[in-house]
Amino acid sequence: MKARERMLAKLEPIGQQHLLQFWDELDGSQRTRLCDDIAAVDFDLIARLAGGQSHGEDWAELAARATPPRALRLADVNPVIDRVEARKRGAAALAAGQVGVILVAGGQGTRLGFPHPKGMFPVGPVSSATLFQILIESIVATRRKYGAAVPLYLMTSPATDAETREYLAAVDRFGLTESELHVFCQGTMPAVDAATGRVLLSDRDQLFRAPDGHGGLIEALERARLIDDMHARGLKHIYYMQVDNPLVRVCDPTFIGSHLLAESELSTQVLAKQSPLDRVGNVVTVDGHMRIIEYSDLPDEAAERRTADGSLELWAGNCAVHVLEVAFLDRVVTKRDAVLPYHVAHKRVPYIDESGELVEPAEPNAYKFERFVFDLLPEAERPLAVEIDVAEEFAPVKNPPGSDMYTPEASQQQMIALHRDWLRSVGVDVPDHLPVEISPLAALEALDLAGRDFSGLDLSGPVYVKK
Ligand code: UD1
Repeated sequence: MKARERMLAKLEPIGQQHLLQFWDELDGSQRTRLCDDIAAVDFDLIARLAGGQSHGEDWAELAARATPPRALRLADVNPVIDRVEARKRGAAALAAGQVGVILVAGGQGTRLGFPHPKGMFPVGPVSSATLFQILIESIVATRRKYGAAVPLYLMTSPATDAETREYLAAVDRFGLTESELHVFCQGTMPAVDAATGRVLLSDRDQLFRAPDGHGGLIEALERARLIDDMHARGLKHIYYMQVDNPLVRVCDPTFIGSHLLAESELSTQVLAKQSPLDRVGNVVTVDGHMRIIEYSDLPDEAAERRTADGSLELWAGNCAVHVLEVAFLDRVVTKRDAVLPYHVAHKRVPYIDESGELVEPAEPNAYKFERFVFDLLPEAERPLAVEIDVAEEFAPVKNPPGSDMYTPEASQQQMIALHRDWLRSVGVDVPDHLPVEISPLAALEALDLAGRDFSGLDLSGPVYVKK
């Protein structure tokens, strides 16, 4: 049977034969490409997802039963976990070389409107350092501070992989050695037309494919044999973060230690939401299991629920910073299909129509399918939420300049305010208006500045404390 007939026999019974519509116009290599694309799709799964059988949870029903998570709060006077003890435990794990980092950077950054991988966004308010530079230099500084390697597992997607690799090679991985950095690529999922369930073409010889969500991490780690690599290096704990937050306290020893003292398999940083409809995921407990309900899924009336003292009942927002056990990865890797559902999103997806024209829809026209790594939470034993101070640790860059929140300007202002406080804490008289920035190579936290001599620091213009 010829390739076309073979493909048709597969596609016709499931109503996807339109994928071969331009076959006669394609040359040999284009046909091969199209066949490879089609062979990679699990059409049964797509049909189930698009047909709604897996549209999943009844969020309103879940939210009605949701309660706040077990959490260490900033205001706890007698916290169940002692912070000093936690910091010691975390520092010991770092010094023993038991901690590695996962950085997820496969998103397309569509909202920000930056035409490169988001990690290449120049966010440093004085230095113009990129998100990658700040995050990776934090890892290099952690290695130096604790005297042990902190390997970085950096997840890209086909949309970001080549440019990310090129960029990191050109900047010598910001000081990480070749063996300390593993770049690996996540998988993709096709999108389907919302009205017909037909898989969309992005070109005559190509299916539209989008990254399969950061939950694609588990499969991607396994494909690249990276969990084995973690074991081979003696890693026990993984610090997980996303690429958009330059203030994330990379490998915070207190967070790691709190996770260890709680004997948690998966811990998560949370922030106190300022208003009910803040656009962060909601960390909650349902039926005794910690889980996250995305802001887009949480009904307003659940978000607005208040306790007797007037505060938000579902107060805990997801910072997307986790610590997880390598042993937990071992445990979930084989059952990922059972524990990581696909979330279905109604989105605008450009596609090639029957006449071969590119259509750029103005309204959502398609379903996209993504897995979320935090859906592992209900699987974890003794999960712990740890509250952070937003002003000090959370300033993600998500939206273009001029938007209402999570903009580059807001992130930079927050960085300046924090670093000004750090300098003032060691006696530098920084004027209010002066932009200042501290490289992670100079300090990971205010304490690292103690004892340094800043008497010669020139305060006549923007200040960048480099090392
Ligand atoms: C995310 C969280 C939200 C949390 C907020 C905190 C999700 C679904 N929601 O929202 O609960 O409160 O961060 O800042 O995660 N990524 C990949 N591959 C993908 C998709 C995303 O690596 O296929 C990476 C992105 O590069 C980014 C991160 O995951 O680093 C977050 O993705 P994004 O879709 O931007 O999530 P948010 O809506 O910002």
